[in-house]
Amino acid sequence: MKERLEALKLEALQELSGVQSQQELNDLRIKYLGKKGPLTEVLRGMGALSAEERPVIGQVANDVRAAIEAVIEEKQAGYQQQETENRLRAEMIDVTLPGRPSQQGAVHPLSKVIQEIEDIFIGMGYTVAEGPEVEQDYYNFEALNLPKDHPARDMQDSFYITDEILMRTQTSPVQVRTMEKRQGEVPIKIICPGKVYRRDDDDATHSHMFTQIEGLVIDRNVRMSDLKGTLLQFVQEMYGKETRIRLRPSFFPFTEPSVEVDVSCAMCGGVGCRTCKQTGWLEILGAGMVHPRVLEMGGYDPKEYTGFAFGMGVERIAMLKYGIEDIRHFYTNDLRFLKQFLHL
Ligand code: DAH
Repeated sequence: MKERLEALKLEALQELSGVQSQQELNDLRIKYLGKKGPLTEVLRGMGALSAEERPVIGQVANDVRAAIEAVIEEKQAGYQQQETENRLRAEMIDVTLPGRPSQQGAVHPLSKVIQEIEDIFIGMGYTVAEGPEVEQDYYNFEALNLPKDHPARDMQDSFYITDEILMRTQTSPVQVRTMEKRQGEVPIKIICPGKVYRRDDDDATHSHMFTQIEGLVIDRNVRMSDLKGTLLQFVQEMYGKETRIRLRPSFFPFTEPSVEVDVSCAMCGGVGCRTCKQTGWLEILGAGMVHPRVLEMGGYDPKEYTGFAFGMGVERIAMLKYGIEDIRHFYTNDLRFLKQFLHL
């Protein structure tokens, strides 16, 4: 039996010395040391041995097993090290390679103009309010003194979702929402930038979605001259100290009186050019004194409080400021357009 074991050891070691792969090594481990292997078989036959022989053969069998295990272990360690080395080589980073410059993003020109306008009004003590783009008919029209049959709310102009819910056509509903929230407290001094939606066909000057900034001031003794002074301050910070404004009578259901506000053309300084169609003036916003009925619906007593409001189209202001000739440039994400505003 001892000879069988020694022969087994020799055979195993010989086979192991020619092993080529991890798979082969595993196979040999099972072949020699597995439950159905020759070594196990020998040990199982030990019952037939005499009491003197048993420990001697047992010792030999253990030595053979240990010798085979030692070789397998050594080879296994070799494979593992190889594997680690392969992985390290594959993951090697060459820190001496030249860098690849990454593309740098920038703030969108519209966002820039909004930030600039916000900064100007925050400097005058305003806070920035927000409201939903999916709006109730009540806030978008009714509470702004545009009852259901009012011609200014022609179905053609609005994206309705249900009879009572639509995409807001203006940021003016935030006026009403703000009044409700403030529950009769004064002063209110807010601006609200945001997207608005209209059923317009897109062309160089129209877009079914565009951006407005609304303003609302409510307090005791707010006068038309406060509106005028505020807007003058705004345009002079926006377009330069020499800029002038002109108010023309107009109509909005939620203001009385209502005005349309022109600024002197920044392109030509007011003498007349192509941008201002030779008039020297550019219309930039609508405004007025908040209509008593709107104050009332917002929970403010028109006998005690007055206010002014204004609304402007951000795209138009940006177009005039930067000489952009087509409103669609803002939404089509052409990098050739956007890159011109990287350093503004
Ligand atoms: N909401 C008006 C529009 O979209 C603009 C406007 C005009 C807003 C006068 C006002 C305002 O707050 O007082 O055409």
